[in-house]
Amino acid sequence: MLDQTRLPGEVVHVTLAGWPDVVDAIKTMVVRGAPAIGVAGAMGVALAAQNAAATSATRQAFDSEMGRAIAELRDARPTAVNLAWAVDRLAGIVADHEGTPGEIAAELTAAARAIHVDEVDRCVAMGAHSLALMTRGARILTHCNAGALATGGYGTALGVVRAAHAADPTVSVIVDETRPLLQGSRLTAWELQQEAIPYTLISDNMAAMLMSQGRVTHVVVGADRIAANGDVVNKIGTYGVAILAREHGIPFIVAAPTSTLDLSMPSAAEIPVEERAADEVRGLSLFGRPAASPDAPVANPAFDRTPARLVSAIVTEQGVHRAPYERSLRRAWDSAAH
Ligand code: MRU
Repeated sequence: MLDQTRLPGEVVHVTLAGWPDVVDAIKTMVVRGAPAIGVAGAMGVALAAQNAAATSATRQAFDSEMGRAIAELRDARPTAVNLAWAVDRLAGIVADHEGTPGEIAAELTAAARAIHVDEVDRCVAMGAHSLALMTRGARILTHCNAGALATGGYGTALGVVRAAHAADPTVSVIVDETRPLLQGSRLTAWELQQEAIPYTLISDNMAAMLMSQGRVTHVVVGADRIAANGDVVNKIGTYGVAILAREHGIPFIVAAPTSTLDLSMPSAAEIPVEERAADEVRGLSLFGRPAASPDAPVANPAFDRTPARLVSAIVTEQGVHRAPYERSLRRAWDSAAH
């Protein structure tokens, strides 16, 4: 996989030999973004099966190694539901299969590849649906990275941007840098540069000023998990952007595949929010010096919860959903036949 921690300076692919390496890559954000960690988790289960098929003398030994791999991959990060969704799909194949470990490994490999292909197809479909929400010359603000890097190809929020820009080359993007891990400046800006889509990078605290000046026409973000009522959990800072968009009368659009829906959660209040290491917040340096004292007490929630009332539309591969979201998201989930 492409090591996202080394962008934009270096484009380096790493080869992972076993499922513990995949767990580590997800935890350390070598791979990140909700659909992408789902794909990686599925690939991790397939890799575990290939290795275990080569080393296990019995089906029982194979099953016990698979049990360990599945549990650790599923728990590598807690918030984006795509990871558990993808790993559970493959775990179901292992549980139901009566064949040899080699046959199971082959089926899991095909299933993991199919999840990857499906996620990219879903992004392309979302891009097409979202054209109905765009206006000529749109200036789209996005937060975090919801691009090809975050999805295995094309992107959710950046898929919307790609489709809009292909239809209207005057479309441009405002990229929130996205503290503390800077997915906006490191990854979104890099992707837009590759695609030759015009963008302006801002620090997160500039969004209100630009909105007040009429320089933002739409906000488009991805999601890590969407509850049954349409509440959205996404990268920390998304909730603030949604409040700003409401204040300035700017549509706040969420693009996410049905694999990001968690209809077992009545609202976002029940969705776990990952707390990450304090040094991610302290780690910035400025003027050649650390920007925070090394023992500064820190809060570092990696995601926040945006209530459905601030969301103008949710775009899935099934179409554009408007409030009240409950029935429309349920229909989308059922049509996607999970
Ligand atoms: O912590 P990250 O970088 O994995 O968080 C990613 C996000 O919050 C994205 O906005 C989200 O996964 C949507 S990606 C299509």
